[in-house]
Amino acid sequence: MRVGVPRHFLRLADRTPEEHRALLARARALKAARRPGRREETLAGRTLGLLFEKPSTRTRVSFEVAMIELGGAAVTLPAAESQLPRGETAEDTARVLSRYLHGIVLRTFGDDRLAAFARAATVPVINGLSDGAHPVQLLADVFTLHERFGRTEGLGVAFLGDGAGNVARSWIEAARLFGFALRLAAPEGFRPPGDEAAAAGEHLSVTDRPAEAVQGADVIATDVWTHMGREAEQAARRAALAPFAVTSALAALAAPNHVILHCLPAHRGEEIAAAVLDGPHSAVLDEAENRLHVQKALLEETIG
Ligand code: CP
Repeated sequence: MRVGVPRHFLRLADRTPEEHRALLARARALKAARRPGRREETLAGRTLGLLFEKPSTRTRVSFEVAMIELGGAAVTLPAAESQLPRGETAEDTARVLSRYLHGIVLRTFGDDRLAAFARAATVPVINGLSDGAHPVQLLADVFTLHERFGRTEGLGVAFLGDGAGNVARSWIEAARLFGFALRLAAPEGFRPPGDEAAAAGEHLSVTDRPAEAVQGADVIATDVWTHMGREAEQAARRAALAPFAVTSALAALAAPNHVILHCLPAHRGEEIAAAVLDGPHSAVLDEAENRLHVQKALLEETIG
């Protein structure tokens, strides 16, 4: 529907730190103003499409509710019900959907596919999770840290588990953009790509000792060990990552007021102990709710 080159949001680095600050400030205002039954009209007349090649609970519902509460509309198209499995290309799909919609959230597998889709689209594309990044999740995580600590600069964040997964890789991007120190504890074979680690510079350190990562940390974060589409590797992943589970004993090494984050869905007793996920330091439900507020701000900025 738009003329000109659309401004996509495929990775956190697609926005400057200043733009992120403005986005988080708007999300705070939207959260503070939210009342049952109240609707902003900032996206009146706008329609968002959600094209999902993987399952979702939070991403789908929070984007749909965001559009409703901002006065717009959302159309969700599970890819399995589209012509994609029958061979229509991602590019043709992007071109056609761009004729109906003001923006598209795509949840897909490879980042090459995401990039090809975005290149063909003539409306903004938002990455709703790909193999290499989950930027809308990290917006919510950073927003949650601001709520808990009033800042992100100077915080010590420990991430335990699969350092090559999409959530870990977005944490790495966030460390540089939001000024915190990320201590990643992951075994060999589960480390982030070298160029992404290098781009984080002094904001990232990597260890194979989880206790070293969590010692004195302000935040402990983790993610599922077996990502969508990697189910065949489940047993091998469990074996390799077992020492990197967030247990009560490890969490006890963190700072006294530490916060536990997990993007959900979680597997209690696998990557994180139930006592930690459901314990007094856990912010995971605020983190999930905050998806709604940050995505509203992102939608206003992207398709408003
Ligand atoms: N955290 C997250 O993206 O959740 P869903 O997979 O349920 O969307």
